Amino acid sequence: MTFNSNLNLLKAIGRTPCVKLENISKLTGHEVWAKLEFMNPGGSIKDRIAMYMIEKAEREGKIKPGDTIIENSSGNTAMGLAIVCRQKGYKLKIVIRDTTSKEKIKMLEIMGVDVIKVNAALPPEHPDSYNNFAEKYAAENPGVFYIDQHNNLDNNEAHYMSTGPEIWQQMNGRIDYFVAGVGTGGTCTGAGRYLKEQDPGIAVIGVDPVGSIFYDYFKQKKLVKPSRYLIEGLGDEFLIKTAQLEMLDDMIQVTDKQAIEHTFLLVAQEGILSGGSSGANIYGVVTLAKKIRKPSVICTVICDSGYKYLSTVYNDDWLTANNLI
Ligand SMILES: Cc1ncc(COP(=O)(O)O)c(C=O)c1O
Repeated sequence: MTFNSNLNLLKAIGRTPCVKLENISKLTGHEVWAKLEFMNPGGSIKDRIAMYMIEKAEREGKIKPGDTIIENSSGNTAMGLAIVCRQKGYKLKIVIRDTTSKEKIKMLEIMGVDVIKVNAALPPEHPDSYNNFAEKYAAENPGVFYIDQHNNLDNNEAHYMSTGPEIWQQMNGRIDYFVAGVGTGGTCTGAGRYLKEQDPGIAVIGVDPVGSIFYDYFKQKKLVKPSRYLIEGLGDEFLIKTAQLEMLDDMIQVTDKQAIEHTFLLVAQEGILSGGSSGANIYGVVTLAKKIRKPSVICTVICDSGYKYLSTVYNDDWLTANNLI
């Protein structure tokens, strides 16, 4: 057995396993594969973009160690940034909705991040809302760099440069569909673009929670009024630059309940304890599988670990209070 002895923590980001979901494959009649992104050091796919966006900003001379970085994040980008900032010597401020799972908030506090909780009920146009606070803070405080994962195309590029090529290699070019939830859209469109460049026959399917605006915009170019949903990491209330919906072949809409049911399906069938957005992806895979007749190869992403959601997705009281069981 050979081990890579030239590894530091940042080099341990990426190169995650891509495994066949044996039982879900049997259940759907298609070959279903999943890239296990919870195996990144920060426990999610977002380590990739955190490292890429910081290193790109460094190369462009926009930041240097000692500076302060600010970002709004549902927790995973925040954890990725926390690791990269610790390794490279940046200070980090994270704006987070007060509804985010308390495990994620606690982990960031342990990492020494300045966590700024904002009221999730504030309308998106409010200056102190989740969407506006970080940008405003960076504009008012010189020396603070706003990462802006929702409009920074280096996010998509990170997946184009790493997630996409890894999937292509690991699948040996045998892939018909790539299914991924759209949060910023970085994963789905960045990796999706790379895969389509290798084989234009690959269809890229986005998954969007009911309550987010992406699905209706994709289907009918209509901007609907957003409403509240509970799955963390997916969807948005605005159109954002990184969600390059025009390159998707189709989108599938998922309710909180369907996402949760399929999170538990993933536990029951495969023994994979994931977060709710991965359950949404599995719902996307199962829904797609019912529509396609020819046996196909479908690849999706397990975005993060269930350990981050013991107080929400895996808590009966939370599920009951939110009518999810
Ligand atoms: C848990 C989780 N799943 C999925 C996503 C979506 O990934 P992307 O932003 O690349 O669309 C995110 C993004 O924040 C996330 O935190």
